[in-house]
Amino acid sequence: MGRLAGKIAFISGTGAGIGRAAALIFAAEGTEVFGCDIDEDSAAGNASALRNGPFGTTHAEDWCFTIKNELDIAYFCTQAASPHLIARGGGAVLNVASVAAVRGAPFMPMVPHGAAKGGVSAMSLHLCAAGAPHHIRANTIGAAFLCSDEAAFVNGADLMVDGGDSAMAG
Ligand SMILES: NC(=O)c1ccc[n+]([C@@H]2O[C@H](COP(=O)([O-])OP(=O)(O)OC[C@H]3O[C@@H](n4cnc5c(N)ncnc54)[C@H](O)[C@@H]3O)[C@@H](O)[C@H]2O)c1
Repeated sequence: MGRLAGKIAFISGTGAGIGRAAALIFAAEGTEVFGCDIDEDSAAGNASALRNGPFGTTHAEDWCFTIKNELDIAYFCTQAASPHLIARGGGAVLNVASVAAVRGAPFMPMVPHGAAKGGVSAMSLHLCAAGAPHHIRANTIGAAFLCSDEAAFVNGADLMVDGGDSAMAG
């Protein structure tokens, strides 16, 4: 029996990349997966799209596009899922942030992306507090195991999956 047997998952951005891989892993572990993607050509709180550039030349439209497609999407997907999680007596929210939330990138300007992902990380901390009375855990980034019952004591975590880059940065 899989680690996520009998569970139901909603994953955004399942058409490509990490979302697609996560959906396949969740399904292989026994979860009934509901996915969505805006890209109709794709094969199948992960989905995101961004516009970065040098800080001085980033337009208001680029900022708004990135906040909408990286932070708003995580917020509203989680909010839409909330009544269903409460009705089921609890559950797990897993939002995908980035190392860009905690570190600047001198050679790759990404102020809008860093701000949006910083918002995702902070949001998860508050979701952790808001979800506690309803037995809803909230974590940022990670893998399928964070949604299984084996991770029942993992709550409010922001796990950097970056090959140790954050830990070793000077
Ligand atoms: N790939 C990396 O190196 C990396 C590093 C840090 C964080 N992340 C984060 O991981 C997540 C997934 O990244 P990825 O590299 O797999 O991205 P990707 O671009 O390969 O896939 C994202 C998918 O989301 C879909 N999508 C975008 N906006 C959507 C919307 N509004 N509604 C529904 N679907 C939408 C896209 O069509 C695409 O299929 C993102 O949140 C990203 O910021 C990725």
